[in-house]
Amino acid sequence: MPAPQPVLILNGPNLNMLGVREPTLYGKDTLADIEKRCAAHGKMLGLGVDFRQSNIEGELVTWVQQARGIAAGLIVNAGAYTHTSVALLDALKLIEVPVVEVHLSHIFRREAFRHQSYVSLAAHGMISGFGAHGYVLALDAVAALLQTPSTGS
Ligand code: DQA
Repeated sequence: MPAPQPVLILNGPNLNMLGVREPTLYGKDTLADIEKRCAAHGKMLGLGVDFRQSNIEGELVTWVQQARGIAAGLIVNAGAYTHTSVALLDALKLIEVPVVEVHLSHIFRREAFRHQSYVSLAAHGMISGFGAHGYVLALDAVAALLQTPSTGS
């Protein structure tokens, strides 16, 4: 039997520094801890998980392009590129499967420049402010969207 299509979870710049990066804002979990939680929760939902991080905008764009026809859904924490990257938005617009945006912190309670999200223009929804648990919630959201494809935008 062919392997089920995975949910691609993309993490942008500086998220490789979780654990040491502003822990009061982002928590003490490392990205490896979050990856483990996602793999376990995905397994429970019957979803494979392909978890990646890059500090390079173009690499994230390429991974989104390559996800077409391969990923069952996409979860994106684009880090600071959330607020700047038209290139990532354009790539995300190519994706036909559910796209869920995640932020560890509550971006609307932070600086004004973080209130703007290009990713949101291509995402079904956003989960922000629940720390590492947001990734688990995002997997639940992808699973729900896969069951009812007409839900959301
Ligand atoms: C972040 C929020 C962004 O504003 C910031 O640049 C990040 C992390 C979050 O997960 O809360 O790198 O995406």
